[in-house]
Amino acid sequence: MHARAVAATTTALLGAAALLLPASGALAHEVAERPRVIAHRGASAYAPENTLAAVDRAERMGIDWVENDVQRTEDGQLVVIHDDSLRRTTDAEEVFPERAPWKVRDFTAAEIARLDAGSWFGPVYAGARVPTLEQYVRRVEHNHQKLLLEIKNPELYPGIERQTLKLLGNEGWLDRRHLTGRLVVQSFSADSIRTVHDLKPGVTTGFLGTPPVAELPGYATFTDQINPSYASVSRGYVAAVQALTGPHDRRLHVFTWTVDDASTALRAAGYGVDGVITNRPDVVRGALRGW
Ligand code: G3P
Ligand code: CA
Repeated sequence: MHARAVAATTTALLGAAALLLPASGALAHEVAERPRVIAHRGASAYAPENTLAAVDRAERMGIDWVENDVQRTEDGQLVVIHDDSLRRTTDAEEVFPERAPWKVRDFTAAEIARLDAGSWFGPVYAGARVPTLEQYVRRVEHNHQKLLLEIKNPELYPGIERQTLKLLGNEGWLDRRHLTGRLVVQSFSADSIRTVHDLKPGVTTGFLGTPPVAELPGYATFTDQINPSYASVSRGYVAAVQALTGPHDRRLHVFTWTVDDASTALRAAGYGVDGVITNRPDVVRGALRGW
């Protein structure tokens, strides 16, 4: 029998065994754990997305996982921002009126550091900045949180995978403690995730999307997670992903996004997902408390 088929059969048997065993120990932990709650762009319903304030807001809620988006400036600095333009989440249009369309990659890190990334969200956040990735990981570490790092638009930033890994390594995020449960690197680009895996095979990786079931075994050679939109997911799809063994000889995991209400969170949990990515981590955590 093919190795992956053996693993799938083993997983199914272990799942059946878990129903008969007390809910303690490593086996129960793997099979029956409540889905993790991941604060999407930080606790972004309550603080401006992808800022240190959003990280801190998640921390104050007791949420240990935060998600972010990493891109690169004109002068090669990694910064944390979702859109490829500065326009929506900063005052770039006001500060640099002649610089349309205000693409992140057309501004230096010093220019971006001048921008207000908080006022658009609310006056209390005036003066919040677009963090560099270095500032961001230091704050996550300081808060004892964990990071789901998204490499955003990698096609715009050749070499961003190597650069991101270098920064993570310099900041101490590629040691055993971080590699075994504190860091996941994800992207909508399979090529980008494959590159991360090839450069640093110890890193846990995630592919954002919903590949056809028939293609999942190919993904399982380089990614540990398949992270689909909740609208595209079903119990059967989650089971198909989790039946596979990934590059680290663990079953594949599923983190679904972006779930902001209790009933959808419960539905996702019912599908068996391993993580729920949310702008409202308090709502999702509350919904899943009894799960
Ligand atoms: O982590 C999942 C989610 O962030 C993917 O979509 O557009 O919010 O980066 P987006
Ligand atoms: Ca993201």
